[in-house]
Amino acid sequence: MKKWAVLSVMALGLAVLSWSAQAQDSKPKWTIKEIMKKYPKLVGKVNKGEGTDEEKKELVALVKGLWENTPKKGDAEAWKTRTASILKEAEAGEKGGFKVGTDCKGCHNLHKGK
Ligand code: HEC
Repeated sequence: MKKWAVLSVMALGLAVLSWSAQAQDSKPKWTIKEIMKKYPKLVGKVNKGEGTDEEKKELVALVKGLWENTPKKGDAEAWKTRTASILKEAEAGEKGGFKVGTDCKGCHNLHKGK
């Protein structure tokens, strides 16, 4: 009897957990500003082939965060295309593989306000 009670509490816990994870997915976890505080260092490291697995994972998560956001400036479609290419680069995570991701100025010129 006790075992079942424990199991059903656990099942309930899991259901609540997955529900809240889904609820969080629908809106960006971080603002672009927050991401930009961590992004340059991480992308530089991974790009040199010095990123750990953890750092590569974090970079992918950050870039996903960029993609989920909409910049205050510039074309929203262009933003999605650009961040989607960076996401591909981040997922590949290869040494020297970042072309769009390290074009800081290119993106700032289009999407960063003053
Ligand atoms: C995909 C586009 C994109 C790329 C690539 C990008 N940035 Fe940014 N960055 C932005 C946007 C948009 C903002 C403005 C965010 C805001 O003010 O809401 C920003 C803001 C910043 C800021 C200011 C943050 C603050 O606190 O106001 C810094 C610093 C920065 N970026 C550094 C970099 C560096 C360094 C790189 C290259 C390694 C880079 N960014 C690549 C889009 C990009």
